[in-house]
Amino acid sequence: MVKVLQSKKEMKRVKTHIKGLDENMEGGIPQGHVVLISGTSGSMKSSVVFNVLYNEALTGKTSLYISLEQSYNSLLNHFVNMEYDLSKINLYILSDISKIDESIAEIKAAKKGTVIITDVGAIRKQIKGMKVSPGGDWLNVIKNIVQKIKKGCGCDLFALDSLSAMYILSNFGKEVRSRLFYIFEFLRDLEITSFLISEMPLTKTKYSEYEVEDFLSDGIIVLQLTERYRKVTREISVVKMRATSCNTDIFTLEFKAGQFQALYGGKTPLV
Ligand SMILES: Nc1ncnc2c1ncn2[C@@H]1O[C@H](COP(=O)(O)OP(=O)(O)OP(=O)(O)O)[C@@H](O)[C@H]1O
Ligand SMILES: [Mg+2]
Repeated sequence: MVKVLQSKKEMKRVKTHIKGLDENMEGGIPQGHVVLISGTSGSMKSSVVFNVLYNEALTGKTSLYISLEQSYNSLLNHFVNMEYDLSKINLYILSDISKIDESIAEIKAAKKGTVIITDVGAIRKQIKGMKVSPGGDWLNVIKNIVQKIKKGCGCDLFALDSLSAMYILSNFGKEVRSRLFYIFEFLRDLEITSFLISEMPLTKTKYSEYEVEDFLSDGIIVLQLTERYRKVTREISVVKMRATSCNTDIFTLEFKAGQFQALYGGKTPLV
């Protein structure tokens, strides 16, 4: 049973590692929260999430990044271009899910914090092996991977890139709302701090596909590109974060010298 905290001091938080943002949300995201990262195309959703996983790996944590939109190769090229030094962490590419037990043994033996990355190609191999219908039960395969890794080598953080891609791959039919409910329950029960990336339409009318994700999640962080005349600015805001007193203002998001920063009027906001 999940323990009820006795005092505020007991609340453990995971930093977003965005300078200026953590300071405005009591230090970070409460551990175990399921957070929706919603943003328009190209708003740096994948980068912001990887930035958390990378920096947490530097402190010895283990995480799993499932990429359904891009191959791990394309994603890693992007991170290398952003000048993340991947040699500082144990970056584990899970390219064959049928060999997950051997992978877990290797990850357990690693001396550094780990980011496990897997993609649609690696999962498809597994689904083919299971002979599931063409729509494929991607959700169950994903759940099994998360569960196995959590049990086998411990997993502090999980990222799904993206929920939107999972909807395309899976055929949830009429059960979509109840199945979504159980995904959130499943992640909460595992006590893994999770980031579910969600594509926001360009009209910015909703944060997620079915809109139930908004209230099912413990937190929503929104990324967007805002046009002012001909200038386009990257922006970030925390729309909600349960169990956290946070500043919900919209900050400018910058990535400079390997560091994300949330700025207010060109400066890191004062707390
Ligand atoms: N140093 C950098 N190196 C590479 N890309 C950068 C850098 N700084 C900013 N970017 C921008 O990051 C954007 C892509 O980031 P990312 O893939 O994280 O966004 P996304 O919201 O996940 O995109 P998508 O909607 O395609 O999934 C590109 O539009 C690119 O211009
Ligand atoms: Mg992306």
